[in-house]
Amino acid sequence: MTATDPSIELMRLINGYQVSQALHVAATLGIADQLKDGPKSYDAVAHACGAHPPSLYRLLRALAAVGVFHESGNKQFSLTPLGFCLTSDAPGSTRNYARWIGQRGQWGSWRNLLHSVNSGESALGFTYGTDAWTYRMQHPDEQAVFDSAMTGNSRTEAQAVLEAYDFSRFECVVDVGGGQGLLLKTILLACPRSRGILFDQRQVIASAGEALTSTELGQRCQLIAGSFFETVPAGGDVYVMKVILHDWDDRTSINILRTCRRAMSPTATLVVVERVIGPPNEMPEGKFSDLNMMVQYAAMERTSQEFDDLLKNGGFKMTEIIPTRSPQSIIVAQPMSTE
Ligand SMILES: C[S@@+](CC[C@H](N)C(=O)[O-])C[C@H]1O[C@@H](n2cnc3c(N)ncnc32)[C@H](O)[C@@H]1O
Repeated sequence: MTATDPSIELMRLINGYQVSQALHVAATLGIADQLKDGPKSYDAVAHACGAHPPSLYRLLRALAAVGVFHESGNKQFSLTPLGFCLTSDAPGSTRNYARWIGQRGQWGSWRNLLHSVNSGESALGFTYGTDAWTYRMQHPDEQAVFDSAMTGNSRTEAQAVLEAYDFSRFECVVDVGGGQGLLLKTILLACPRSRGILFDQRQVIASAGEALTSTELGQRCQLIAGSFFETVPAGGDVYVMKVILHDWDDRTSINILRTCRRAMSPTATLVVVERVIGPPNEMPEGKFSDLNMMVQYAAMERTSQEFDDLLKNGGFKMTEIIPTRSPQSIIVAQPMSTE
């Protein structure tokens, strides 16, 4: 058998869960942080992380074999470019994301992907008897890891969005479901004449508050709590919705869009930031993220045509899709006349 034997290739894919779990453990133990100042023996890393040395060695050598660490002859390990991304302070660090994928709610739900595929229902709901939002509220430790994972992803994505789209022409930016406010903060720092409104659920706004208001941005930024199923703040020149619609099915997404549409003036702009599903046989990241949305929320990533239809039903005309250097694209839309 050669290295390109299809059955070997397939076995690698089948065993992908082992790599995921090994990365989760490495991230949880903070191994990359231990190696960031230079190579160390497995023993030193094990002692620093509180792990069982011979077992940690086996984890490190397995991850070195897939390029995350580098093993030298004397069982010393160092970081590769991939391993560097697992350090806590790396730009766009993936450490918290790797911590999150192994949490009970996430890992345990993927165990029931088959249920989602057979029923169209959320595997998380099937597994834990509640929706993902309630589950995380009931498990604050997992919520904290989830929030930090999303903030880590957002850091890279926010910068990429800003590079691809000019927000400086807008006086008032409303970030709908803006989470901890990272994107809004990035926009306002780059656009000194703009002001912003961060809109999210009460408990999220409560925890986002200080980070935004304690800086000079505080004077240009308003925090408003509420639900995008009821009303969103009026008066914005641009309404941003980053990774919101992929959490919801079409019917619910249309309701969210209509709530926004009601708050918007006819000249305001809607900027949706989401992955756009690529053509057949390409771009697996978006297609697996789509499965993740199915598992967690019975929701989905969408193609450009699906966004066009969704926006139309929500009262908007899609005008442009702008790719960014992150997995997210910028989908621009204008309100359609309601007459
Ligand atoms: C996937 S996160 C995206 C957060 C942020 N836009 C980002 O890109 O990091 C989805 C956000 O929607 C918010 N959300 C969920 N339901 C909401 C509701 N009914 N009203 C307002 N925000 C809501 C969540 O609190 C969360 O911050």
